[in-house]
Amino acid sequence: MHSPLPTLQQIPASIAAVADYEPFARERMSEQAWAYMAGGAADELTLRENCAAFQRLRLRSRALPDLSGGHTRLELFGQRLEQPILLAPVAYQKLVHPDGELATVLAASAVRAGMVVSTQASLALEEIARQAQTPLWFQLYVQPDREFTRELVRRAEAAGYQALVVTVDAPVNGLRNREQRAGFALPAGVEAVNLRGMRTLPPTATRIGDSVLFGGPLLAAAPAWRDLAWLRSLTRLPVLVKGVMHPEDARRAVAEGIDGIIVSNHGGRTLDTQPATIEVLAEIARAVDGRVPLLLDGGIRRGTDVFKALALGASAVLVGRPYVFGLAAAGAPGVCHVVQLLRAELEVAMALTGCRTLADIGPGLVDR
Ligand SMILES: Cc1cc2nc3c(=O)[nH]c(=O)nc-3n(C[C@H](O)[C@H](O)[C@H](O)COP(=O)(O)O)c2cc1C
Repeated sequence: MHSPLPTLQQIPASIAAVADYEPFARERMSEQAWAYMAGGAADELTLRENCAAFQRLRLRSRALPDLSGGHTRLELFGQRLEQPILLAPVAYQKLVHPDGELATVLAASAVRAGMVVSTQASLALEEIARQAQTPLWFQLYVQPDREFTRELVRRAEAAGYQALVVTVDAPVNGLRNREQRAGFALPAGVEAVNLRGMRTLPPTATRIGDSVLFGGPLLAAAPAWRDLAWLRSLTRLPVLVKGVMHPEDARRAVAEGIDGIIVSNHGGRTLDTQPATIEVLAEIARAVDGRVPLLLDGGIRRGTDVFKALALGASAVLVGRPYVFGLAAAGAPGVCHVVQLLRAELEVAMALTGCRTLADIGPGLVDR
């Protein structure tokens, strides 16, 4: 591992777990930014359930294991990762820290964590890539303007991104009431700079009695399976789909030649009342049957959660809000620290369950 950034030592000892960052982050954010980052769709049932479902699972310790030579390394799509924890794509990181995604990529590089950069990043994808010394993947929202979408893929390839993550669970925005009540709007100086120059759709109808979406241009231009096949043909990069919650969709993605699947409900930000991701993982793992790697995100707050996801079929996990709160509270060192905390907890869980490597983590160690 690279040496930690010097200011890592200045993080107070009272921050002993990922959740301890929350009050520090909240203090440093506007009420609106907090509502955007921390909130979820509608009643936030899925947002809460993502975490609660992990907490319901119990681990079984094992006695007197031989742990010599243990490690948390893995290889995914030919890329070597130090730990099975990646940074999920999160839009507009300049909302919480002036350096935004640049601080995040610096931190990801210091701890050798994979990072997925959002289409809606607040900095140019090329600028972020120039600072990367770690596997960097590009998250793609298929835009109504398909030519622009093609150009985004080309830019990501040219900048050295090593995988394409196509988000499929947000053809329309979730109804995020917390955000609406707080009156969230992007402040001046924060925008989706990578989408500059794109042709946009006319606004949807707002007259009483009109359909909100149906019959409008947004759904007509929403991505469908045929777009996935088109994307697959555009690039030689590994293509993952993010936002799969149904085994039939997982099977279809494999049939379309997709290289990896991210089980995700967008951190509870799109369709509320969906189950937790960890609740559907085993079913999706059965459907995929080892044909492509499965990843999972949503509700990971502890190394034991990472362990549980790996035990039930994931090769790796992504975290969203935890590192964003680290970024808000302490910049790059905060992000490093969040990854280190999760990794340390994962290593302790592995040692106490008798797992030398990630391959030893299996379903027999989790009580459901
Ligand atoms: C503020 C915020 C912005 C997000 N922006 C994106 C995005 O631009 N693209 C995307 O695919 N997912 C986005 N996500 C979803 C995350 O990639 C991830 O699925 C989710 O945060 C995981 O749940 P967690 O926050 O409980 O770890 C966003 C999540 C948050 C909290």
